[in-house]
Amino acid sequence: MNIIDGKKVSADIKAEIAREVEERVAAGKRRPHLVAILVGHDGGSETYVAHKVKACEECGFKSTLIRFESTPEAPLDPAELMATIERLNADDDVDGFIVQLPLPRHIDEQAVIEAIRPEKDVDGFHPVNVGKQSVGLPCFHSATPAGIVELLRRYEIPTRGKNVVIVGRSNIVGKPLAAMLMQKGYPGDATVTVCHSATEGLAEICRRADILVAALGRPAFISADMVKDGATVIDVGTTRVPDASRKSGFRLSGDVDFDAVAPKCSFITPVPGGVGPMTICSLMQNTLQAARLKD
Ligand code: GUN
Repeated sequence: MNIIDGKKVSADIKAEIAREVEERVAAGKRRPHLVAILVGHDGGSETYVAHKVKACEECGFKSTLIRFESTPEAPLDPAELMATIERLNADDDVDGFIVQLPLPRHIDEQAVIEAIRPEKDVDGFHPVNVGKQSVGLPCFHSATPAGIVELLRRYEIPTRGKNVVIVGRSNIVGKPLAAMLMQKGYPGDATVTVCHSATEGLAEICRRADILVAALGRPAFISADMVKDGATVIDVGTTRVPDASRKSGFRLSGDVDFDAVAPKCSFITPVPGGVGPMTICSLMQNTLQAARLKD
């Protein structure tokens, strides 16, 4: 059994990005500039955005964090958020920007995503980027699936003709990952099955997987009896579960029962330190690409 070390791979990629940024700057070009918008104080979102800002520093990017307060008593006026998006769309100094999700319930997330100019949508969530990706055109790829594909590539895990089973059909992981892995070429050419809450015979379908991707957000859902011997298991879950032994009071739990499943696998991603760091890395790659496209 081999552990897929997302932390190490992401550190390698960030170093590669930082080298290119310094070459850009030496050639008189601008540093890539990423802006992150954070609404309210969701604990998970605070952590993710802090990691994104730190990754920008490591890559030599300029970064800006824009915060909006929003509470049930004083909810943010969505028009204020939209006005900021319009300003960033028009700002030549900004290569790309993201609005951290989830947003408070009173804000229409899809309308927010569609307000971002596709050329600055480094999350790859805009329908223009989603559509381009599904037909194999150059675009910004959604960060988590792009990170997973990069891990498969760097660990040289075969995908051609392999059975990939993805548990979870979200717009930001399951659906785009399915599109990427069924694309022609490597890492693609796979036979992809997407399972979800209405799937019948889930365990049996999972047992057929050469590559099993768990992206449903239910701690330790994938048990050993759902995994074929020698499979590669990719765990996208990052649920906070209470843990009194930690200073923070919680720990991150993946969607895979790691201790039981790992001995059966040829490769497996841990949580934390697997897919998570790669997601942020893909965002950095997209931001660098946005800057390159403006040269
Ligand atoms: N929330 C969870 N993952 C993501 C992500 O990749 N981008 C944004 N903007 N919000 C998220």
